[in-house]
Amino acid sequence: MKYGRFSTDGREYLITHVATPSPWINYLYNGRYFATVSGNGGGISYFRSPLHGRVTRYRINDIPPDRPGKYIYVKDVDSGAIWTLTWQPIGRDVEAYRAAHGFGYTRVEAEVEGIASSVLFFVPRDDDAEIWRARLRNESGRLRRLSVFGYVEFALGHALIDLINQCDDQHFNRVRFDPDLNSLFATKTYWVTETRGTQHQENKEWDRWAFFTVNHPVAAFETMRERFIGPYRSEGNPLAVEAGRLSSRETDFGNAVGALQVDLELEPGESKEIVFTLGVIAKTEFEASKAAVVRKYRDPAEVETAFGNVRASWDEYLSFTRAETPDPDVNVFLNGWSPYQAKVAFDVGRVASFYYWGIGRGFGYRDTAQDAIAIVVADPGKARSRIGLLARQMRRDGKVYHHFYGDGQGEFTRHCDDPLWFILAVTEYAKETGDFAVLDREEPFLEGPPGSILNHLFAVVEFARGNTGRHGLPIFGRGDWNDTLDYIGGDDGGESVWGGMFCAAMLDRLAELLEAAGRPEHRDEVVELRDRFRSAVESYGWDGEWYLRAFGENDRRVGSRENAAGKIFLNTQSWAVIAGLPDRSRLVQAMDSVRRHLDSAYGPKICAPAFREIDPKIGLITRCVWGKKENGAVFCHPAAWLIQAECLLGRGDRAFHYYRTLLPNRVDSDIFAAEPYVYSQYITSDEHESPGRASHSWQTGSAAWMYRVAYDYILGIRPAYEGLRIDPVIPASWKRFGAERVFRGTRYFVEVENPGGVESGISSLKVDGRLIESHIVPPSDKPECRVHVVLGRRLS
Ligand code: GLC
Repeated sequence: MKYGRFSTDGREYLITHVATPSPWINYLYNGRYFATVSGNGGGISYFRSPLHGRVTRYRINDIPPDRPGKYIYVKDVDSGAIWTLTWQPIGRDVEAYRAAHGFGYTRVEAEVEGIASSVLFFVPRDDDAEIWRARLRNESGRLRRLSVFGYVEFALGHALIDLINQCDDQHFNRVRFDPDLNSLFATKTYWVTETRGTQHQENKEWDRWAFFTVNHPVAAFETMRERFIGPYRSEGNPLAVEAGRLSSRETDFGNAVGALQVDLELEPGESKEIVFTLGVIAKTEFEASKAAVVRKYRDPAEVETAFGNVRASWDEYLSFTRAETPDPDVNVFLNGWSPYQAKVAFDVGRVASFYYWGIGRGFGYRDTAQDAIAIVVADPGKARSRIGLLARQMRRDGKVYHHFYGDGQGEFTRHCDDPLWFILAVTEYAKETGDFAVLDREEPFLEGPPGSILNHLFAVVEFARGNTGRHGLPIFGRGDWNDTLDYIGGDDGGESVWGGMFCAAMLDRLAELLEAAGRPEHRDEVVELRDRFRSAVESYGWDGEWYLRAFGENDRRVGSRENAAGKIFLNTQSWAVIAGLPDRSRLVQAMDSVRRHLDSAYGPKICAPAFREIDPKIGLITRCVWGKKENGAVFCHPAAWLIQAECLLGRGDRAFHYYRTLLPNRVDSDIFAAEPYVYSQYITSDEHESPGRASHSWQTGSAAWMYRVAYDYILGIRPAYEGLRIDPVIPASWKRFGAERVFRGTRYFVEVENPGGVESGISSLKVDGRLIESHIVPPSDKPECRVHVVLGRRLS
């Protein structure tokens, strides 16, 4: 509570004390133009790719960590007082500022020197630009003469080249002021489109103009950072703002910036709106479009309409599921912040935040596949195109790029799990939509002739079949879901027990799809392979009280009670359940072992005890500091699978205990540090000297999984091929809850009562007043449908 809270309706996170322990950010984007912004105005902007289309800079490893950004300076011409409309970068009067992050927008308010201000940041749906709409109101009771300066630092193209070769790269910057358009235009006459730092000099220029404009006459402008900031200074005390007059010189060299000065007067009580627009235009379209976008947002009505459209589109996206549970925190996350984060993670990928700098990684195959499971609820079309994208990263032997850029570039590794995630994306889509035609859609492979999605799925089956070791389990290669178990058994020796469970689970899903799609001819071989993985795990994977994690060289057991470190791993317990292993007593024991050995005040740990000695025959995990990341942290993404597994066992109190512990707003922010409105990749565990600190917020698989697992398995409302399955697994203390879900065009209103205080099981289920003898509500052709559920004795 020290730094902020959710608004009463849960739709905004209000930062009441803006000196947050780390930059608390938001994402503003339309699918082409992307911007991040912190509550203090820090953040980057890029067009399509943070690597190739970087519009503004991020200064990596800088202190403070969120510079530069989207800054508006104000100077009182008479008193000489200077401040910014966000608390940073000038950083005075912290108590005078507050910020709010909403769905697709961020607003910062302040009252400094008798001037009340509010800046709204958002990216319009239709234009490749970002709007900073500032409103200033004179509360001082006397006439005020102010200079207002909007300021950005440009990157202009390839962010990695900009970073590693700036001494040469700055010779290609061009920044021009166009007096007719009252705007600055910046570009680079040299551009590289390769993904890595390279000596190769491509013979071309950046294909965009970046523009920066404002809805008032520009009194003066600046184009070069050296002149705006001045020597031995920073954004916190720029020389040009102190001087009160920009140089109005264009530049062909140096660190390119855009600064626009507007001079205005405010009578007592008077307000003025100053709208800065930063964006890009394709050079090829500049003339034809007459730079219409540059002028567009000078009209306040256009700004209002564009903002209304952004809000409407998020409202629409968030309207597909709704939860009214007895727990207000759960409602805030399930009705807004979890699906919101999941969509941001889907649209952005792990490429842009203050953790991921967007210069070195493409899209991870498995991450990208998993992100699709959340988007499919509200936007199946997007999930379908994601399936196509994933298919195009696959070879005919089923191997896929571990990382890819979507333009044919990518990197193969030897992870044993990557291709299998394709099955997840396809089956979630088919279950949601009932669209089986997707199986016949043709997509290219990385080589050879194209094939249908079904061909791609079978390429994956062949990959799984061909990649097994001595115990019939997947050969570990350079990792499975856990990227840091990368040298299990040395170079080649290891097998993944989790991989065996995962293959079984994915093949089971595929068999179910083939059955539902009326393609039983392929089903048998899939079932047969699934059963082989199940029995390999059952024969070799049990350690007595839980499941092993892996076999190393010479049958060495990893994740066993015989080990001093890494005795027990979370994933092989939860996936034993998810994979449908047959021995319930083992499953219950495995999950109880999780509770006993892995659960902690901050949530369940990914493994324990953490490794404290380097072991080259296990890998990176053992080189990592204990209690962080994969080495024994509370890793939020697999924690979602634990919740799912507890639900599958019908244990609502346990499941909810884990879910609630992991809600991001549960830990004091001075300890947690990361944003309390979104999941982070991990929370430092009690194996480290400073537990509770979260890291890698926003861009994590936890986003999609926490949304879907909580909705599908705790509320228990999830798609099945035959209809909507209802199977709540809740805390016994919940007497009732309500939910809504749109499924195949029908909006279901679900009311659940729990008179007997049970954790799971249904005694009656009525659909529009009629009792049905099944957990599955068949698809309806009506726009709305009412489902009434009484929990109690199991239906069947
Ligand atoms: C990171 C990666 C993800 C991986 C996980 C565990 O979250 O993005 O792909 O599965 O770490 O190593």
